[in-house]
This record gives sequence, C-alpha cells and structure tokens, in this order.
Amino acid sequence: MQTIKEYIESNQERFLEELFALLRFPSISADPAYKKDVEKTADFIAEKLKEAGADKVEVCPTAGNPIVYGEKIISNDLPTVLVYGHYDVQPADPLELWDTPPFEPTVRDGKIYARGAADDKGQFYMHVKAFEYMMRNDALACNIKFMIEGEEEVGSANLGTFVKANTERLQNDVIVISDTSMISMEQPSLETGLRGLSYVEVEVTGPNRDLHSGVYGGAVANPATILAKLIASLHDENNHIAIPGFYDDVIELSDEEKDALNKAPFDIEEYKDDLGIADVWGEKGYSSIERTGTRPTLEVNGIWGGYIGEGAKTVLPSKAFAKISMRLVPNQNSERITNLFKEHFEKIAPSCVTVKVKPHHGGEPVVTPTDSVAYKAAEKALEDAFNKKPIPTRGGGSIPIVALFEKELGVKTVLLGFGLDSDNLHSPNEKYGIENYLKGIETIPAFFRYFAELSK
Ligand code: BES
Ligand code: MN
Ligand code: MN
Repeated sequence: MQTIKEYIESNQERFLEELFALLRFPSISADPAYKKDVEKTADFIAEKLKEAGADKVEVCPTAGNPIVYGEKIISNDLPTVLVYGHYDVQPADPLELWDTPPFEPTVRDGKIYARGAADDKGQFYMHVKAFEYMMRNDALACNIKFMIEGEEEVGSANLGTFVKANTERLQNDVIVISDTSMISMEQPSLETGLRGLSYVEVEVTGPNRDLHSGVYGGAVANPATILAKLIASLHDENNHIAIPGFYDDVIELSDEEKDALNKAPFDIEEYKDDLGIADVWGEKGYSSIERTGTRPTLEVNGIWGGYIGEGAKTVLPSKAFAKISMRLVPNQNSERITNLFKEHFEKIAPSCVTVKVKPHHGGEPVVTPTDSVAYKAAEKALEDAFNKKPIPTRGGGSIPIVALFEKELGVKTVLLGFGLDSDNLHSPNEKYGIENYLKGIETIPAFFRYFAELSK
C-alpha cells in the first residue's frame, strides 16, 4: 500500500503523459467539424476509466455529443459520490495569439499550456487518476460514479434528457465537480455559488441592402450606429443594468455576508496589472469581488456588421449584430430575464430600424451549502493538502447543469476546483499548473475518506 503522495511521485510522468494525450484531441463542441475528434475523446476517456478499474463503462450516445459513464460500486452501505466533468473545450481562436499550438500541450514554467488544460480536461482527469490510486491501493472509501459530458461549453443541451432518463443509475449522495477556480496555491478556497446565464443574439436591420455611404449616409439610419447606441443604453451612468425589472428578483447580501466575501485576499493593483488596465469598472456601490460573485451583469460577447476586411470600403451596412450575455444571481430566472431583455430591446429600438432578439442557451444560478457533510469533507481534504483552511468564495462563472442536478436528482454539489482565475480559460494560452494538477490528485482521495467518515 502506497500513500497518495508516494503514488503520485512514482507515477507523475505517466499522469502528465496521459493528460497530454487527452489534451491533444481538439474536442471543440461549438464546431461540428470536430465531431469525430469529440467522439475519439470520449472513447479515450472510457478506455482510461476501464484501465483505472471502473465497471459498466459506457460511451452513451445523445442527440449531440456522447456522455462517458463509469462506476465502481463497492457496498450499498457506503455513500456514493458522482463525479461530473466535461471533455469538450472552447474553440481555440484567435489562433495567432497562442505562443504554442493549442492542441500540442507544452510545459513552460511549470504550467501546461493547451486548450482545455484547466477547463476542464486537466481538472476532471485528476479524478480519474485519484480513482486509479484508490483502486490499486484498496483505498476507495465510497462508491463512485463518473459522468463526463461533451457539451458543457455549448449549454449542455442534451444532458438534461440523459439525467432525466437515468435518474436511477445516477443516484448519489453528492456531486463533486472540479471545474472552478481557487484563490491561489497559498490560499485554497471552495466556490459556493455559480451564476446563471441568459444569452441572446440581436440583429438590427436598416435598409434592405448595403448602401453607398456617401449617396445614402446621413439620410438613412446606420444599423451599426443604432446598435451601438442601443447597447450603450443598457447600462446607466452608475453601470446598473437599465432593463426595467432586471433586478426585481435579486436578493441583496447582508452586510455580514458581504464582509465575509470581501475578506478573501484580493489585490486590486495586481489585478489591474495582470489585465493591463488602468482602472476597473463596474456597478457603483460594489467591490470587484461582489461585482463578479454576487451581482448580475451584462456583457457584449461579440459585435459585428458592415465591412471589416482589408483597407477601407465606404458602405452603410444593411445589418449589424451582437451576442449579449447576462450573468444571473440566485433567485433570478434565465427565461424571465431573456424575456425582459427581448421586450426591452424591441421597445427601445427606433422606428428607422427593425430588431430581432434570438435567445440562445440559458442556465440557472446556484448556491451550494457550506454546512453539509460534503462541504466539510472538502474543507478538511484541502486543509490537509494545502496546510491552510480553505475559504468559501462566490464564482462568477456558470455551470448550468448544477441547478439541474439539484432539481432532477435532489442532491447538492461540491465545487472542488483547483484552477486559477489567471489560467486563461476560454482565452489564448490557456494553462494549468502541474502543481495544481498534482495537488488535486492528492486532495481527492482525502475527500472520499472524509466524506465516508463524516457520513457515518
Ligand atoms: N468551467 C467553466 C465555468 C467556471 C469557470 C466557473 C471558472 C467558475 C470559475 C465552464 O466550463 C464554463 O465556461 N461555463 C460557461 C457557461 C456555459 C453555458 C457556456 C460560462 O461560464 O461561460
Ligand atoms: Mn468548465
Ligand atoms: Mn468553460
């Protein structure tokens, strides 16, 4: 019997090589051109789960990308942990901004650079390796189920159907997800909330065709100008979102809750420096931590229209577009917010243009409990590995499936994330620290042990 630390030490090279192999698959879910690669990735994971000792391993087809399932049930008397993760990744572009190719994992400065390194391949794979350790060293303290999906980055459209059709097979006592960030290697933390999401695409149409901007400009509305004005009006002078009713369901945090959140170490100068900005921005009356963790926000993700090629073309475009997302906080509902946005946007559009609002995927916000057995087990496991008690934080990102798990399976989630906000998720040069990867593998078996112990 080896301890997890000994096991990591003697298997470290292999653990890294296997992760690199996983990272070499361009499993981009947003682009159908990668369908085959996505399928190969699922097969690879199924193979690795089998090698590690999982039973009933299956690549389950869905209407979209397959879900990889596997389990090890050792006793009906033990609690069951369901590990959820996603093997799909965001598109890698703009490719020219990567220092090394996104699907050729490269180590620099102790960090693995590759698309999906932190989000989420490097993180869910820690569970596969921790499971391998527990199996080979007779240390598995709970039943375990793996569910690794391939459509998280595009809204998990088919996961709901799968969960509803498999409630029996997916029965568990807690869901563990490593797909979030912690504060730093010096200060571990556990995210206790995720924001919801409402995502729309808007189309503004002016004249029925592109026009010569000299012949018609100034006499006909330019949809790009109108779109810019409409977007600008969505925030008021205090950077509050100016959609009527938008904040109706938002619950204000108590002063104690705010104080607790603001105790997390956060150096605003370092933050600005890292991002190359001279100043931060946001809703008046809230700190940066509160703005991303506890307040709803509205972002333009992309905006286009007219001529964007080489040189200058004088044209008054017929259409302009934008993709807009709103992050939601507990008690807000994505469908309601999408409808509010649509009504408002259509109402404020001047009569010289027409607007269309097309809803994309959405997701509901969640807060996870900090007084549960699972949270306490995670806390203890992190404290053992990092020699410091983790603190609870509220993350700004979204994992819409967490709310759905709660609703369909009636279980809560622990967000046992080992990434860092500076890992460049969804951005060029995404990375994941080797140290984070190995610390994660070290922490997970302790979580299982404590969870079994505390569940007694
Ligand atoms: N892993 C992220 C979510 C995340 C990142 C949570 C960092 C907390 C900290 C996840 O893969 C993700 O990117 N989710 C999307 C939502 C989805 C519906 C596209 C997001 O947050 O934009
Ligand atoms: Mn993720
Ligand atoms: Mn992501």
